[in-house]
Amino acid sequence: MLGPEVTITVCPDGPLLVRGPAELLDGDGNALTRNRETVALCRCGRSGIAPFCDSTHKKRRATTGSAGGSAS
Ligand code: FES
Repeated sequence: MLGPEVTITVCPDGPLLVRGPAELLDGDGNALTRNRETVALCRCGRSGIAPFCDSTHKKRRATTGSAGGSAS
């Protein structure tokens, strides 16, 4: 009999979505509290609630849409 399934979805320019009963551990091996069935883990390194995503990655994408160039 198979147990509950865990899936991890890579969101383009966004977080990793972890669905299912995966145990999340911090860098010291301590369990992280999950409040939801689906957890979004930050991949951009800019979240204020790391290791979880707080959608800050969307702000970064919105400000890098121009062709660029400096005015000096
Ligand atoms: S991936 Fe969403 S804040 Fe980093």
